[in-house]
Amino acid sequence: MKAQELRQKYSEFFKSKGHAIISSSSLIPENDPTVLFTTAGMHPLVPYLMGEKHPLGKRLADVQKCIRTTDIDEVGDATHHTFFEMLGNWSLGDYFKKEAIEWSWEFLTSPEWLGLDKNRLAVSVFAGDEDAPFDEEAFDIWKGLGISEKRIARLPKKSNWWGPAGETGPCGPDTEMFYWVGSPSEIPAEFNDDNSLWVEIWNDVFMQFNKREDGQYELLAQKNVDTGMGLERTLAVLNGLDDNYKTELFINLIHKIERLSNKKYGESSEITRAMRIIADHLKAATFIMGGDKGVTPSNTDQGYVVRRLIRRAIRYGKQMGIEEESWTKEVAKIVVHDYAYVYPELPKNVNFVIERLKEEEAKFKKTLEHGLKEFNELENKRQTTDDRINGKTAFDLYQTYGFPLEMTVELAKEKGLRVDVEEFNKELEKHQELSRTASAGMFKGGLADASEESKKLHTAAHLMLAALRKVLGDHVVQKGSNITAERLRFDFSHPEKMTKEQIEKVEKIVNEAISEDLLVACDEMSLEEAKKINAMGVFESKYGERVKVYTIGEGPKIASREICGGPHVERTGELGKFKILKEESSSAGVRRIKAILE
Ligand code: ALA
Repeated sequence: MKAQELRQKYSEFFKSKGHAIISSSSLIPENDPTVLFTTAGMHPLVPYLMGEKHPLGKRLADVQKCIRTTDIDEVGDATHHTFFEMLGNWSLGDYFKKEAIEWSWEFLTSPEWLGLDKNRLAVSVFAGDEDAPFDEEAFDIWKGLGISEKRIARLPKKSNWWGPAGETGPCGPDTEMFYWVGSPSEIPAEFNDDNSLWVEIWNDVFMQFNKREDGQYELLAQKNVDTGMGLERTLAVLNGLDDNYKTELFINLIHKIERLSNKKYGESSEITRAMRIIADHLKAATFIMGGDKGVTPSNTDQGYVVRRLIRRAIRYGKQMGIEEESWTKEVAKIVVHDYAYVYPELPKNVNFVIERLKEEEAKFKKTLEHGLKEFNELENKRQTTDDRINGKTAFDLYQTYGFPLEMTVELAKEKGLRVDVEEFNKELEKHQELSRTASAGMFKGGLADASEESKKLHTAAHLMLAALRKVLGDHVVQKGSNITAERLRFDFSHPEKMTKEQIEKVEKIVNEAISEDLLVACDEMSLEEAKKINAMGVFESKYGERVKVYTIGEGPKIASREICGGPHVERTGELGKFKILKEESSSAGVRRIKAILE
């Protein structure tokens, strides 16, 4: 089966069950401070899972592009990816466990749909703990479908609870579906999730809880279903492959890497792993940079993730002996070519991606050269006869110059030295803990929990965008926004630093709109109607799709009009005083404002 056939079958099936098909959202979340990337299909739907009304109704399905960096250490095996596509269906307070499970089973096993062998499938359900009981209902539904009890594992929260995506938000127990990819003659009677030949392909989450900031779970106003099926894994399974990288979604990348390195995929487990990492990382980097938000490699946020992905790919390329100058763009071109028919933003932004890759490769090369010099100096300065490079030094080289440990070890070896790898790892762990804490900080508050403060800042962001366009011109469009309960961060296109007068003017326009206590109204309409009335917004939605438009003010006093999922306050009078704290560069041609409400 081809990937597109699977995408289409999925949509068709859920359409036949009364679902509206929505388009994939951007990989960079709009107005959601809790995450750097869209990590699951449910992300763009959080407000609706929390109770906002969706213009397309209570049953939705889509194919969502996702980025997950949490599994990065597992990338290199046959089934984990940084970029992947998730097939998902949702019930927003409509159907629940029975329909969700029965439809998953029907889609997987009915000869009319995927027709997978029932004997190679197993499932898991939530075992129960102090937060929620054993999911007997799911267990019984599976049993009723004819699955043997030995193939229904009861697993704890660690395995069978999904969400929240950040620290707070919608979550719940889930039931997961696994497919046996080993030899058919060796299918165990009993399911054991420790055996990696059982590959998880689909997850149905019964999203009925909201995790609060105090760590408690409260019942949501509505019972939702959130499901996610991995496109890459399911495609492999359907084609009888035990390796996602052998599917059409990766094989051209692997072939390109084979040609560049003069090595064969499968030649050794190390080469297989390295080629998978290169293919995975460069695909992910291409998708992140190739989106309409135009992310550039940098040292912060999404830019930092892209930088790490590219540099890690280059490192593995180096290990495999890829010598060609500026080779990463050659792999990226294949990603763009292979995915252009599903994601038209890629060919549109291909030149941007190629330029960024060229630059980043050159920068990394310089960094490595610098590190090499530093290494040699270090070697000259060495006064003792100790034949060891301590872990701290190796870590400094890594941290400051991006000098990979493998290279330090290699160079050290040439000079008859060894590196204290254990100490290096300790340093690394210490550092990772720090950065984990730092990224955990990103999950606090914000629109995901729809707190009053973040709602206000969200409305202020709309007023500010309109004011920026008035003061600076119509070239200003939103490039990204990140709102917490404390502050608003907003990226927009503008080529130069704003003057003090311009900043003051923007503040004045926003504060006037606040003092006029304007009405914030929400209307549903088609995308075409929204464009006709000049609503601002990211036009990612498909032709004919219904969207929500928020209008601030009435009649001649319309202060802002944007396509947006909400939520917003009801009147601008609630906002308080708007103040811009900082205006700075974010990346080439993009400025960033930090603002608060006092
Ligand atoms: N949100 C669920 C997942 O990502 C479906 O597995």
